[in-house]
Amino acid sequence: MDATLHLSDADASAALARRLAPELRPGDVLLLGGEIGAGKTHFARALIRARLGRDEDVPSPTYTLVQTYDDGRAEIWHADLYRLSGPDEAFELGLDEAFATAICLVEWPDRLGTHVPADALRLDFAMLDRPGRRLRVHAEDGRWAKRVPLATAAHD
Ligand SMILES: Nc1ncnc2c1ncn2[C@@H]1O[C@H](COP(=O)(O)OP(=O)(O)O)[C@@H](O)[C@H]1O
Ligand SMILES: [Mg+2]
Repeated sequence: MDATLHLSDADASAALARRLAPELRPGDVLLLGGEIGAGKTHFARALIRARLGRDEDVPSPTYTLVQTYDDGRAEIWHADLYRLSGPDEAFELGLDEAFATAICLVEWPDRLGTHVPADALRLDFAMLDRPGRRLRVHAEDGRWAKRVPLATAAHD
């Protein structure tokens, strides 16, 4: 699937994250792309809070690389790979196993090189010269098309 949306403000991003949250299950990997400040952590935070059902503190994993959560149905891994020294360190962190067993939200996924899961959902955020963000949604695996709640978001 391929779609481009305009998320008019931070609340629109959070609303999309909240709608996607209940569709996810262990083994799902979301690759959150975009420059610093594009809104990756904001999206992940809203998604994690929706899964947990409470306004938990969801810090950016900038320095820890990974923060984990458990919502009772799934383990959630929130990773920020900006400071990853190389794909090997991702294995040391246990990310490869988490890709199979947890819901994974991965910022700076390009740091994984060729180890990016082929069936992941890719969400690329971009800043614009107008308010809001552009979001490109891409998945090779057609099963995502039914699960991504695009209908209620504004198409570009
Ligand atoms: N759709 C949006 N429109 C406008 N601002 C947004 C949107 N999504 C997120 N933001 C804002 O962008 C800023 C940076 O977000 P953050 O998630 O920290 O970026 P990243 O993790 O990509 O570096 C935050 O202040 C957040 O509120
Ligand atoms: Mg971030």
